[in-house]
Amino acid sequence: MMKEVNGQTRLCGLIGYPVKHTLSPVIHNYLAEVTKKNLVYVPFQVENGLDDAVKGGFALNVLGMNVTVPYKKDVMESLVEVDENARRIGAVNTLVRMENGYKGYNTDYLGLKRAMEEEGVSLKGEDVVVLGAGGAANAVVYLCASSGAKTVYILNRTLGRAKQLAQHVGEYFPETELIAMETADYTKLPDKKFVVIQTTSVGLHPNVDEAVIEDQGFYAKVKKAVDIIYNPEETKFMKLVKEQGGEAYNGLKMLLYQGVIAYELWNDVSVDAHTCKKVLELMTKKLQG
Ligand code: ATR
Repeated sequence: MMKEVNGQTRLCGLIGYPVKHTLSPVIHNYLAEVTKKNLVYVPFQVENGLDDAVKGGFALNVLGMNVTVPYKKDVMESLVEVDENARRIGAVNTLVRMENGYKGYNTDYLGLKRAMEEEGVSLKGEDVVVLGAGGAANAVVYLCASSGAKTVYILNRTLGRAKQLAQHVGEYFPETELIAMETADYTKLPDKKFVVIQTTSVGLHPNVDEAVIEDQGFYAKVKKAVDIIYNPEETKFMKLVKEQGGEAYNGLKMLLYQGVIAYELWNDVSVDAHTCKKVLELMTKKLQG
């Protein structure tokens, strides 16, 4: 049945470029239906004029927006307030309507947190390896340190970026040891079992046969792993982890929960577990085309 749009319909949307392949409309329009909110979620392709887009959205009474590549950092300049964790991470992906403008949050980090809790991947007191030091790694390393990881090894092709990230997050969490390394030096990791979070774009569709590290010796040290990639459903990295007896999860639940948490912030509701499961099924179906 066609959704009824009327004089009281509220609008939410996603600002980014490109936005063509986003799954967010699937998440939010389904949630609106189930929670009986008169709300429509649409993609906003913003090629330039980010500030105009944010201000224009506010003027048009848009209830909330998500923000994706390449604007997660720059959007902060257009907001009236930024949540403390988002500010420290240096990225905002969710805008919540306030009286005079939008407040920015980072639900990527909150989404990964909820996904990992549900999958039983704990970070507290753990030795963690984060592969990559790009935009996504900022939220991931921040999550590890804020969750009380004992040591976080940040492995990146470009050592300088890993160093910068370690230093930045280390300022907020002096109790977590943050160690920057070049990815090629993975053999120097101590002889321990690690929780590993894969944040690079290596292995992303269509390059499904690639992994940032191929050596089985590395994977023998992995007890639990998350790849934040969700397309393909099982990345080469995940396959390599499983071959050595470790547990591996993809990034689809992170994507699910970053959306659910944004929806909860916009609508002041709490989405139940059954509904979350339904949304996940829908997302999986969409991905399979
Ligand atoms: P994102 O916001 O998705 O994290 P990004 O900021 O461009 O995107 O970061 C991409 C990450 O994947 C970086 O850690 C990058 O390593 P560099 O900092 O050395 O560029 C990593 N990455 C991308 N392609 C890679 C490749 N072919 N081999 C190894 N690492 C790669």
